[in-house]
Amino acid sequence: MSNVVANQEIHAKYGGVVPELASRAHQQNIVPVVQQALQRANIVKKDLSAIAFTKGPGLMGSLLVGTSFAKSFSQALGIPLIAINHMQAHVLAHFIEEESQQKPPFPFLCLTISGGHTEIVKINNYFEMDILGNTLDDAVGEAYDKSAKILGLGYPGGPLIDKLAKEGNPKAYKFTKPRVGDLDFSFSGLKTAILYFIRDEIKQNPNFIKENLNDICASIQHTIVSILMDKIGNAVKFTGIKHVAIAGGVSANSEIRKRLKNTEIEKGWKTYIPKFEFTTDNAAMIGIVGHYKFLSGKFDANTTTAMARLKVDER
Ligand code: KG4
Ligand code: ZN
Repeated sequence: MSNVVANQEIHAKYGGVVPELASRAHQQNIVPVVQQALQRANIVKKDLSAIAFTKGPGLMGSLLVGTSFAKSFSQALGIPLIAINHMQAHVLAHFIEEESQQKPPFPFLCLTISGGHTEIVKINNYFEMDILGNTLDDAVGEAYDKSAKILGLGYPGGPLIDKLAKEGNPKAYKFTKPRVGDLDFSFSGLKTAILYFIRDEIKQNPNFIKENLNDICASIQHTIVSILMDKIGNAVKFTGIKHVAIAGGVSANSEIRKRLKNTEIEKGWKTYIPKFEFTTDNAAMIGIVGHYKFLSGKFDANTTTAMARLKVDER
C-alpha cells in the first residue's frame, strides 16, 4: 500500500557504505519512515496485522536497528513478528501485486545480482530456493562500484556506468572473462584487469579516462553483462528450465534487462524483469514476503536475532 525508501545520501559523500554511518542513518530514519509509510497507505497502527522486517543478510549495525524496532513495534501492538531474508525478498519482488507484471511460475531460475550477492537460484516455491551458482569472490554490484571508483566516478557506481555506457562503444576495449565453473562467477580478476589497464593507458595519455569515458564504461558493462548472460545460459541448459528472472540492485541495469528480454525471441525463454522501483533495496519486497509468510502462519519468536550472513536457500 506504500513503499517508502529513505535515501542515504551520506554514502555518496564517502564513496561507499561506511557501516557506522549507515547504522546512524537507520536510527535517524526508521521512525519517520514508518510514520510516512502508514500515512501514505492511509491507515493507522491498529490496522496492521503483523510486522515484517529484514533479519539478514546485511550490515549488522543496520540490521540491529530494524530488528529492535520491529520487535518493539510488534510487541507494543500485540501482533505477530515475521523475519525476512533480504535475498529471498529480492526474488519475491516479482510477486508484488502489479497488474502489468506477469508472475513467474514455479520452478523458475533467478539471477540474483546485487551489491553483496551474485547467484543463480532455482526457485521451487515462495519459501524454498536452491543455489545453483555463486560468486567465488566479489559480487557483480561490487565490480560495478569498484570500477566506478577506479574511473573517479561517484557511488553507487552501477547506475553511473550504466548511463555513460549507453553513449559508448561496447567493443572498444576487451577484458578477458574469468575461467571458473559453469555456474559460478568471479569478478575480482576483472577489477584488477581494469585497474592495470587504466594505469597503463594513463602513462601514455594522462587524459585517457576523460577522453574515452563512455567507451570504457560501455566495454566494462559489455564484459560484465556477457558473463551474466553466459552463466544463466548454462543454468537453462543444465536444468531445462526456461523461465528466467533477474532480481536485486543490478537488475536495474539497462543492458541486462535488454539482453535478457531478447532471449525470448532468440532462445524461446520466458523472462521476468522486475519493475525498476523494485530492483534496488525497497520496503515493498520485504512486505510481499511478509504477506506470504503471514498467509502460511510462519511467524517468528521475539527472541529472533539479526544475522549478517543468511543464505537465500535457508529453510
Ligand atoms: O540490491 P541493492 O540495492 O543492495 C544490496 O542488497 O546490495 O544493490 C545495490 C547494487 C550496487 O552495487 C549498485 O551499484 C548496483 O546495485 N546497481 C546497478 C544499477 N543500479 C544499481 N548496477 C548496474 N547498473 C545499474 N543500473
Ligand atoms: Zn539488496
